[in-house]
Amino acid sequence: MIRVLTRLLLGSALALANAPAAMAQEAATLHGESTGPTIDRRIFSQFAEHLGYGIYGGIWVGTDSKIPNIKGYRKDVVEALRALHVPLVRWPGGCFADEYHWRDGIGPRAKRPVKINTHWGGVTEPNTFGTHEFMDFAELIGAEAYISGNVGSSPAGEMEEWVQYITAPEGTLAQERARNGRKAPWKLPYFGIGNELWGCGGNMKADYAADVTRRYATFVKPAFGTKIQKIASGANGPDAHWTEVMMREAGKLIDGIGLHYYTLPGDWKAKGSATDFNETDYARTMAKTWKMEELLTKHAAVMDKYDPAKRVNLAVDEWGIWTDVEPGTNPGFLYQQNSLRDALLAGVNINLFIRHADRVRMTNIAQMVNVLQAMILTRDAQMVLTPTYHVFDMYRPFQDATSLPLDLPKIWYGRDEWVVPALHGAAARGKDGAVHVALVNVDPDKAQHLEIALSGVQASAVSGRVLTAARVQDVNDFADGVRVKPVAFNGAALRDGKLVVDLPAKALVVLELR
Ligand code: AHR
Repeated sequence: MIRVLTRLLLGSALALANAPAAMAQEAATLHGESTGPTIDRRIFSQFAEHLGYGIYGGIWVGTDSKIPNIKGYRKDVVEALRALHVPLVRWPGGCFADEYHWRDGIGPRAKRPVKINTHWGGVTEPNTFGTHEFMDFAELIGAEAYISGNVGSSPAGEMEEWVQYITAPEGTLAQERARNGRKAPWKLPYFGIGNELWGCGGNMKADYAADVTRRYATFVKPAFGTKIQKIASGANGPDAHWTEVMMREAGKLIDGIGLHYYTLPGDWKAKGSATDFNETDYARTMAKTWKMEELLTKHAAVMDKYDPAKRVNLAVDEWGIWTDVEPGTNPGFLYQQNSLRDALLAGVNINLFIRHADRVRMTNIAQMVNVLQAMILTRDAQMVLTPTYHVFDMYRPFQDATSLPLDLPKIWYGRDEWVVPALHGAAARGKDGAVHVALVNVDPDKAQHLEIALSGVQASAVSGRVLTAARVQDVNDFADGVRVKPVAFNGAALRDGKLVVDLPAKALVVLELR
């Protein structure tokens, strides 16, 4: 770990030293004539775990609640998520998945067993949000379902029956489902073979986990004529050995393999505050998030060895910034604020996912509501949309768009030994026919003047939105109000076959060229 970090730092320091030479040679070009892979809309997916107020209070308040709700789901949250066009939701965990028994969460709610959520705060789990509540929620917000199965503490047959209960058109389990209120089978396009099998999912070694994955994958059977993509539990950050063994031993039986990487401003013991950080903390956080590029390249290269046709999806099914919890909140609930820094960090990661869209066809930011890098925070009846929500909103035109190569000058930003490219971007031709360009400037002080040559792009008008704020620490809060939200951007123009952009410091801009 220390060696990896040292290499990263040395590499970054060298890169900074070489920066002026690199800048002089590199031009900015948008290549409209050569198309890249389709950007699977599932790159913009979410993750909702039974953790803190992620489900209870954040999504589900129950039908008797005074908080306005649609059959028990918070109306404000449902509307905000529908507006975001969330493609897919992963549920019920996380670490919670490998201790979840699906039968606890079906049938009359009042009769469901109350268990202890041993991973997250040791609080009671009422099981009022179960399979029906999740599948109906996914339908309500227009998203696909991705269920993480329990491999760590349940037999394969339990998973087989769960899949049948959800998808079978007939038979005893389908009849039970109908008695519980749902006659027609649901669609279940994605199923996770456990979660973090190297850790909370069972502390398995790679070889054993691969064998277990083969066995469980055999019994996860979709209803006749339908297909379930099976996602194997993937590596912990840089652990390429895990990916290697899983691909070698189980690659033919799976459709995807996960990858979990969290950006920690500090370390696991002292992660760092979500709002109270200085510029060195900021630069360190950005440098650590940029490590995603190295991880994607590394795991994709291993996968290429076993799957050159790129059939198997590298699903980054947990990512985002993980800070200390807000002071005074339950440490097991992972409730953290969300600043402009986090929005820029999301933009950096999304651009990397887009650039690796040939292999990365799903990612799930952790998490959807009230947990870690959330889209939405709630407090009783109040709701705020975080800066990260706005990033996902601004990137909506990239869903299922065709990526276009975009070369940007290598300009570096850094503090002390922490160095990262200042500019990050992605471009695509949307399903609407327009060309969309996303640009992130992580430098908190320096604006950038960009002249991007347009090759093979005919456009006569440009418009867009910018997300920025007075400080990278700025947040949207219940008491202080909204400080970070997108506004119309007037810093872009089309001139002499170029897209000319005056990109503000600490800003994310998404442009539309028509
Ligand atoms: O997202 C929080 C936790 O982080 C998940 O439950 C687990 O999979 C990961 O370690």
